[in-house]
Amino acid sequence: MAVLDIRNLIYWYRTRRGAVHAVDNISFKLEQGETIAVVGESGCGKTSTANAILRLLPKNVERYEGEIWFDGQDIMALGNEDFRKQVRWKGISMVLQGALNALNPTVRAGAQVAEPLIVHYDVDRDEAMEQAIAAMKRVGLPQDIARRYPHELSGGMKQRVVIAMALILKPKVVILDEPTSALDVMTQTNIINLLKEMKAAEGLSYIFITHDLGLASDLADHVAIMYAGEIDEIGPADHVFVHPKHPYTGRLLASVPRLRSEDAPEFIPGAPPDLTRPPPGCRFHLRCPVAFEKCGWVAEEFVDRLRLLQATTQGKEGFPRFSEVEARGTQMVVLRADSDSPETLAASFSEFVKSGRETNPFLKSVRSVDAKTKAVAVTLHEGAPPPLIGEEWRAACWLVQEATAHDTIPA
Ligand SMILES: Nc1ncnc2c1ncn2[C@@H]1O[C@H](COP(=O)(O)OP(=O)(O)O)[C@@H](O)[C@H]1O
Ligand code: SF4
Ligand SMILES: [Mg+2]
Repeated sequence: MAVLDIRNLIYWYRTRRGAVHAVDNISFKLEQGETIAVVGESGCGKTSTANAILRLLPKNVERYEGEIWFDGQDIMALGNEDFRKQVRWKGISMVLQGALNALNPTVRAGAQVAEPLIVHYDVDRDEAMEQAIAAMKRVGLPQDIARRYPHELSGGMKQRVVIAMALILKPKVVILDEPTSALDVMTQTNIINLLKEMKAAEGLSYIFITHDLGLASDLADHVAIMYAGEIDEIGPADHVFVHPKHPYTGRLLASVPRLRSEDAPEFIPGAPPDLTRPPPGCRFHLRCPVAFEKCGWVAEEFVDRLRLLQATTQGKEGFPRFSEVEARGTQMVVLRADSDSPETLAASFSEFVKSGRETNPFLKSVRSVDAKTKAVAVTLHEGAPPPLIGEEWRAACWLVQEATAHDTIPA
């Protein structure tokens, strides 16, 4: 039985610009003694996922729904008081993002580690200190560190203190939110080794949150790739990192610099979308190099792309001569020309779509081009969001479905 089983988790924030879809219907499982790495660019919803699991809710949470099964119990069904007593820190704990810089400078390290016991469980100070020293020993810190103030500790020691804080109530699951991103490479390696040792010795289960694929591949048994509030690919780490199925995972891997390679790392063009208005269809379609008909362009995006192309290729041969372009509803674009007839414009636009589809995937969304009395109507294919396709190893990409249907894996 999985120690943690998350089903259809939703966690949105309310803002003046609209609801931020930070975590949008994600599901994953974590087995006892295993690590799942949650990987993705900044702003894709990793920290929000962690906060949702631990029920850390800011005032502006707009939606918080789903099931979280921990040790066979749906902890979403618990009242706040029971959740605090039974689950938070005791069952599932967390090393918060940036926690080593948030240590209280005026309190000695040992007292900070002991604090959860005193605050949450009313344990007396001496016993709490004893347990704090034991927890610090588990993370490789000698006893005298307990009496030091944070400014007397190195970055690596501070991170060990923070990990000791997360372990003091002996949780089964520890969520580590970018636990090494503020550390130098050597210290980072030491902390990763410590996490591995503790996992092997104590059967701990980790959710390891990172934007660093190298670290994820070093530590993880399973990996979930997040993009724009969703999971795009999830499966055993040795599969996902070796033969990614989702184009976004492929791009992430290609963007990692390699020591002995002459090839420059590739960057992913564009930026993650605004989560108050997640793109329709596949959320990655605006940045996807292999997007095709089904991926979900809408007229407004098409018009933006076309105008951009018009501005950059102006005057070049082969670019259709239109003077106006506008979106009509979600799936229709209307073009007008000053000089050419609608028939001439429709013919040149059709030719342009045919020859430009591979370099500009958004053109693949054109379903038909029709000359009307005064203008040209371009109708777009309707897209849909791809579900996660597969069993043990799943990816949310329509290409995976096509490949399964034809019994091949996409390159
Ligand atoms: N308290 C908040 N109120 C409104 N929006 C938030 C809040 N916290 C995070 N967000 C937004 O939610 C999205 C996901 O953020 P986050 O979970 O921190 O991503 P990550 O950890 O992957 O960088 C981002 O668009 C971020 O701006
Ligand atoms: S469904 Fe697949 S091919 Fe289409 S945009 Fe998304 S990732 Fe790219
Ligand atoms: Mg974060």
